[in-house]
Amino acid sequence: MINTDTTRVTFGSRIGILLAAAGSAVGLGNIWRFPYMLGSNGGAAFLLIYIFCIIFLGLPVMIAEFYIGRHSKSNAAGAFRIIAPGTKWSVIGYIGVLAAFLILGFYFVIAGWTLEYIFQSVTETFVDKSVDDFRVALSDFSSGIFRPVLWIIIFIAINHLIVSTGVKKGIERSAKLLMPLLFVILIILCVRSLTLPGASAGLDFLFRPDFSKINSSVLLSTMGQAFFSLSVGMGCMITYSSYFKDTTNLQRTALEVTLIDAMIAIMAGVMIFPAVFSFGIEPTAGVELVFITLPNVFGKMFLSNFWSCIFFILLSVAALTSTISLHEVATAYLHEEMKITRKRATLFVSFGVLTLAILSSLSFGILKDFTLLGLTFFDLLDYITAKLMLPFGGMLICIFVGWRVDKKILKAELTNRGSVAFYFFTIYCFLIRYIAPAAIGFVFLNELGLLRFLKS
Ligand code: TRP
Repeated sequence: MINTDTTRVTFGSRIGILLAAAGSAVGLGNIWRFPYMLGSNGGAAFLLIYIFCIIFLGLPVMIAEFYIGRHSKSNAAGAFRIIAPGTKWSVIGYIGVLAAFLILGFYFVIAGWTLEYIFQSVTETFVDKSVDDFRVALSDFSSGIFRPVLWIIIFIAINHLIVSTGVKKGIERSAKLLMPLLFVILIILCVRSLTLPGASAGLDFLFRPDFSKINSSVLLSTMGQAFFSLSVGMGCMITYSSYFKDTTNLQRTALEVTLIDAMIAIMAGVMIFPAVFSFGIEPTAGVELVFITLPNVFGKMFLSNFWSCIFFILLSVAALTSTISLHEVATAYLHEEMKITRKRATLFVSFGVLTLAILSSLSFGILKDFTLLGLTFFDLLDYITAKLMLPFGGMLICIFVGWRVDKKILKAELTNRGSVAFYFFTIYCFLIRYIAPAAIGFVFLNELGLLRFLKS
């Protein structure tokens, strides 16, 4: 079945479509989460497996999501109902909507931190401070109550305004301006970091793999990071591609988004690890890694406040284009499925997410000791979504498209009814039908200890 609703909004231009999807993918996942995951999971070996996961798991899932979204022109849950009416497949969409809430519940905390750092860049100087000064300052700030929560409220309010007025123009236009700028700033910071004394140790860590560090939990973390960074596994790309044009080349867009995303993550690694080693910071520092390392780099630069200010503005914009896409998943669902107005749907999501985000922010301070499975609320949300829900959702999406969808219909959609070629279609079908679900299932079972091929 196909949705023939021609009144549904679409993005404007081809470049707008690419940048909106890339804007969703490129975010804190690349610049904050990727470096600290890599730092705590063995360095270069993580990078290699990450690239492998992006190409053989993430990209195929993204193409599958693009197919589901544009073919159905519907929100994440409605899409499955339209393509497979009368079946239970739409559960994938419901899980996705839930995942959007949970991801935003911790993402907004870090997004709030980026605003604090813009503020600090304007009001304080980073010159003459030691690594320990930065560490103490961050922990004082993050364990507080009002200040982090205030930044979260401001960030959610900005999100709310944009999503409630409809995603199109503002996002498309700002993405076109800001994504290239982000790229240029990253290059400048990479050069600065690489020219610090002792930078080569950082490059060794990033590019020289030590496979003895790999175990089943590292594999699951890597896979989770690949899905998280590409925004796949929970219907985000389904929702966005439902706004694509009928002439959009889905395979090429997916490939371009994947390449941009991977490149920015690697550049973030090159920006951070030489500095980490040069300043003697532990690469395993975790969530705080980026917020301690980068202020040190800025302090060593000419015009330090200017660069740090610009950098954190861009980081917050990268976070914003990602949070908008997550917000949109839940909003489009409530708006279209629950038949409430877009404004009311946005309000509902914003308040729901605010509650979660406040709890995760407090878990750096007064709620630090409330843990489940040894994880604080913040860590728990991160773990459940990135490590469990996204790979699991990705596996179900592969199974759905690989086994349930008619190959002729799939090919027609992915080739725009024969007007663009898809040379690797047979390989693609094989990947999505057998390899990807099996690989994800294998890593899961292994982590659960049901199979013991790897030491853990
Ligand atoms: N990919 C974004 C990042 O790297 C975060 C994000 C946006 C996301 N939409 C998503 C993660 C959907 C998982 C699923 O920061």
